[in-house]
Amino acid sequence: SNIWKNIKRTIFASSLLGLGYLGYGIYDERHPTTQIVPDAKKKTLVILGSGWGSISLLKKLDTTQYNVVLISPRNYFLFTPLLPSAPTGTVEHRSIIEPVHGIIRQKKGVVKYYEAEATAVDNVNKKVTLKSVNTPEEVEMTLDYDYIVMGVGAQTSTFGIPGVAENACFLKEIDDSKKLRQQLMDRIETAAFVSAEERKNLLHMVVVGGGPTGVEFAAELQDFVDDDLKRSCPEIAKDIRVTLVEALPNVLSSFSKQLVDYTQNSFATANIQLLTKTMVKNVTKDTIKAERSLEDGSKETFEIPYGLLVWATGNAVRPVTRSLMTNIEAQKQSRRGLIVNDFLVVEGAEGIWALGDCSATKFAPTAQVAAQEGAYLANLFNQMGRAHEIEDDITALQLKSESAQDSNTRKTIASEIESKTRKLRRAQTILPFEYTHQGSLAYIGSERAVADLSLWGNATPWAGSMTYWFWMSAYVSMCFNTRNRILVCFDWVKTKVFGRDISRE
Ligand code: FAD
Ligand code: NAI
Repeated sequence: SNIWKNIKRTIFASSLLGLGYLGYGIYDERHPTTQIVPDAKKKTLVILGSGWGSISLLKKLDTTQYNVVLISPRNYFLFTPLLPSAPTGTVEHRSIIEPVHGIIRQKKGVVKYYEAEATAVDNVNKKVTLKSVNTPEEVEMTLDYDYIVMGVGAQTSTFGIPGVAENACFLKEIDDSKKLRQQLMDRIETAAFVSAEERKNLLHMVVVGGGPTGVEFAAELQDFVDDDLKRSCPEIAKDIRVTLVEALPNVLSSFSKQLVDYTQNSFATANIQLLTKTMVKNVTKDTIKAERSLEDGSKETFEIPYGLLVWATGNAVRPVTRSLMTNIEAQKQSRRGLIVNDFLVVEGAEGIWALGDCSATKFAPTAQVAAQEGAYLANLFNQMGRAHEIEDDITALQLKSESAQDSNTRKTIASEIESKTRKLRRAQTILPFEYTHQGSLAYIGSERAVADLSLWGNATPWAGSMTYWFWMSAYVSMCFNTRNRILVCFDWVKTKVFGRDISRE
């Protein structure tokens, strides 16, 4: 009974601690402190983008050290790992975003924000041109910078395949998710008006690209059909088919073989049709033309009638990144993005850093990499800021020493200068960026997930229902803040208890 008592006490204490932590998180978010307006003489640091890289940088940056300007067409941070769950309504859009204004209001030093798109970076004159995105009349302006961080991410690649841009939906931003939802509901509701043959094609949902985005969305879509549409509108649901098209022999090519096989078998059980070794070549408003590689090495072209097309074939360089690349000789050969050195400095330019999906590094374009790069750059800028402050202190001490009358004062100042110089050397010692891979996770439907975890330096593959619970807890803990964590948990509970909402909104 003593053991039982101790267990009860421990549970009670940890619940109190948990509640305390939650309460503090909420209080902290709702009560920002008074902010300092940085000295106008400080260097201007412009940060482009409000995604994983830039926001992670901003979170850890000492904003009193610089005049910080944030420019992004999106006035919120988006938690992309849960974006594939949004179009079907497993989670709500608002649960996975966090307003930029809330984030910058938490900083010690004021940060200026422009809801705008950077259109050009002039690396010679250190100027950035921006264009407002939501003002009644478009405003264009140019800002001077001392340092600029490119964190503009990437856009979905179409490889210039005809018809993709006009006919496909993408899954990169909240607007993509909303459009996808609309189109999905359009197909479902239009099905009542058409013939049986037409209905089969209309309800054929094709996802192109078997990377994690395509796999997770196909899985969510099939869950929506099985868990919700089959209950609420069985007549329509029975004709819905989900197909995933992938050019390579397997989906999830960055995961271990065991997990690839598990995913493919799981898709087969869930009735998701998998077309591997199939490259989409052309798209019209209702047909996909694809080319399949056969066993004997020959190729076969065939057509896939479809109703909804979701395109998820990876990343392409954004125009502002491309324009900067063409201005810098050392960047002209790059295809994937801005080439950076080990300190994330853009090669061939001065005062420009790049992180995340807009940079070309040896790392995969993931949130994990972008977030770690952001944290690294924050430390780097904090160190640089400290170094500037110490340099100013040393100059002031030198002046004081010159005007000092007696030798004792000069001696004291000299020892102060020596100590400051040691501090300066430490602040100027900047180590290169090092990435720590914590593993990869993907949801594969039917309450199952796959995980390639890095445990004690070894890749450990996990798959199944337990991994799904792990996937959920990992993503909740990774959410931006307490508010997002609570909202996402509510959404999941709501989905489990009431099912997903199948209304158009
Ligand atoms: P982003 O996060 O894309 O941010 C770019 C920012 O730049 C945005 O705020 C954008 O509005 C802004 N911007 C765009 N153009 C301009 C401009 N001209 N001027 C100024 N600002 C501009 N990775 C994982 O590690 N785990 C996952 O589970 C995972 N799931 C994903 C699911 C989906 C559906 C997608 C699409 C990606 C997923 N990723 C995941 C990848 C991850 O989201 C990206 O690698 C990550 O977002 C890259 O961060 P970033 O800061 O470089 O770019
Ligand atoms: P991706 O680049 O990982 O995969 C795209 C897939 O599309 C490739 O397998 C490619 O072979 C295929 N493809 C390209 N052109 C094609 C065509 N014409 N026809 C058929 N197939 C074609 O892209 P994705 O999934 O958008 O991911 C982008 C990045 O974001 C990756 O680094 C990924 O790791 C990361 N991400 C991670 C997630 C996770 O960890 N859960 C979730 C989503 C994205």
